[in-house]
Amino acid sequence: MEIRLLSPLTGAEVLGIDLTRPVVPEHRQAMCLAFVERSVLVFRDQALTPHQMLDAVSMFGTVFPQHNTKFALSDCPQIHYVSNQDRFPDGRRYIPGDGWHTDHSNAARPPKATVLHAVSLPDKGGDTQYANMAAAYDALPAATKERIAPLMGIHVYQSSHSGRKLMALNDTDKERVPNAVLHPLLRTHPESGVKSIYINPIRIEGILGLDHKEALPLLGELLEHGTAECFQYRHVWKRGDLVMWDNRCLLHKANGDYDMSQVRYLYRVMLQGDVPQ
Ligand SMILES: [Fe+2]
Repeated sequence: MEIRLLSPLTGAEVLGIDLTRPVVPEHRQAMCLAFVERSVLVFRDQALTPHQMLDAVSMFGTVFPQHNTKFALSDCPQIHYVSNQDRFPDGRRYIPGDGWHTDHSNAARPPKATVLHAVSLPDKGGDTQYANMAAAYDALPAATKERIAPLMGIHVYQSSHSGRKLMALNDTDKERVPNAVLHPLLRTHPESGVKSIYINPIRIEGILGLDHKEALPLLGELLEHGTAECFQYRHVWKRGDLVMWDNRCLLHKANGDYDMSQVRYLYRVMLQGDVPQ
């Protein structure tokens, strides 16, 4: 097994691992370490069935039940799909993952990781961008670090400020998913102790104790700062890629910049995280 860095701050490619086969403990440990240090792990040339994907990711944690069961695979419901072929009830195309966000931050214990496995891809485009919010935090002026330290973000399923609309939950899913949760804007990584900015433009409704006229510009500033190109790794997908990223210290976004007559279809699974601190 070999681990190769993909950009100065973020991303590591794991070579020499076949995820359909058992992984020896030393390799597993090295991958877990690389995951915490590099935030994105990339495995190329895998061809996993949903059940094999489930087995493979279980070495990194416990599966997190995703919020919208509309996207669950019928023969393996813990695995969901991401596809550009779905439409909103009004007929508009639904592009999953568009716009900067971190996954399911409206959960009390949001998923520590999300894993995607590319089954079908367009000829070009549809890259996923990742922004390293730990490096972004580090680069904040001291006054901003102090300002955000005590603040709590209010996370909901669908923020009224978000430009991107999510697919509505059915009644059963609504009962399961919290109405709103509070998470700190300054989050400390439970494994590395590294601090990062924890925001989510798609889910944050506001900041506890602040008026919108104060909260929204602050969130806007943090987003603009944190997603600067110098903090990014951009993943160009190849068929068979399996990519796992750390939702605790990254923002990510998909790009709907490709020929929509071509199918983009990936399997998705998430791993349980802890209460953000
Ligand atoms: Fe996402």
